[in-house]
Amino acid sequence: MVKAVVLGAAGGIGQPLSLLLKTNPLITELGLFDIVNTPGVAADLSHIDTPAVVVGRLPPNDGLKEVLTGADIVVIPAGVPRKPGMTRDDLFKINGGIVKDLATGIALSAPKAFVLVISNPVNSTVPIVAEVFKKHGVYDPKRIFGVTTLDVVRASTFVAEVLKTPSAAPNVVVPVVGGHSGVTIVPLLSQSSHPLPSDLSGEAYETLVKRIQFGGDEVVKAKDGAGSATLSMAYAGFEFANKVIRAVKGEKGIVAPSFVALAADPAGGAALSKELGTELEFFSSNIELGPNGVLKINPLGKITEQEAALVKAAVPELATNIETGTKFVLQKY
Ligand code: NAD
Ligand code: LMR
Repeated sequence: MVKAVVLGAAGGIGQPLSLLLKTNPLITELGLFDIVNTPGVAADLSHIDTPAVVVGRLPPNDGLKEVLTGADIVVIPAGVPRKPGMTRDDLFKINGGIVKDLATGIALSAPKAFVLVISNPVNSTVPIVAEVFKKHGVYDPKRIFGVTTLDVVRASTFVAEVLKTPSAAPNVVVPVVGGHSGVTIVPLLSQSSHPLPSDLSGEAYETLVKRIQFGGDEVVKAKDGAGSATLSMAYAGFEFANKVIRAVKGEKGIVAPSFVALAADPAGGAALSKELGTELEFFSSNIELGPNGVLKINPLGKITEQEAALVKAAVPELATNIETGTKFVLQKY
């Protein structure tokens, strides 16, 4: 029995993500919450002949509380998306407040749920959820995840393209570490399951790195004011949610990058901080998932000089982003 909940379920990501979750036979209850349209989305999905019973609620009459009660996993794609010319940080003013309010609802009604944060800027919204949970005395760093899977999915696709084997994309695994915005997105191409040609250096290497770092901009530009990635994000969010559910069900050895608090695994976190040469409260590295969430934070491992330079460039921006999220909550209480 698994109850999955989507907050922001009527949106561009929320609808296809809810559809995909409805197809997972392990999910027996699917709760949908948004400030608009969830009864319609829920009615539509409820006709699909898979096990999940679907409920859609709006804010009045404790809709959030009702949807969250009994939740095992809560995915948050609520908030505004970027338009051309905006950075993810430009979304903070609006999305920070939305995520803070929703995190408060989760802390009150589903404090043990696994929380998967999609709303941007992820580098700051994850610290917001953590601080809200701390304020309510229910913080467990093993259970809060920033979803960076889209960066991993893009890396697989773009590397397969460079290798001129697009059909291999599903099997290409490239760790993408750091965070989820611009230079904080660090692909470790030297650790690709499918090695890149040794002559991929200089401009060709930089072009590939930049494409992974700024893949989101490609979609924002192509949508021309109509938002950012939704369908690929729903796919990525579904992938990560499934990994969490499979680990909870006892499957071992599931490893994926996610932006988590290093406190989730103090020993692994300390080893990672040593590699980074500094202490960040949150970082996305490969994590091993277990029945209680984060089981282990893996080190970066062997990286090239170029990758070390990318990590070094990511650290100060990550530190600022994390502080922005943390301060936002601390100043409001
Ligand atoms: P959207 O505008 O299509 O949908 C957002 C939904 O959130 C809307 O239905 C809206 O009504 C709802 N919402 C707003 N305030 C709410 C509240 N208080 N409670 C519940 N629901 C609320 O936007 P989208 O394209 O789905 O993107 C959503 C977010 O996901 C954006 O912040 C975007 O930047 C982010 N995003 C993250 C990634 C990632 O890799 N982590 C990828 C793509 C998009
Ligand atoms: C993405 O990477 O596609 C998302 O973070 C959305 C965005 O604003 O680019």
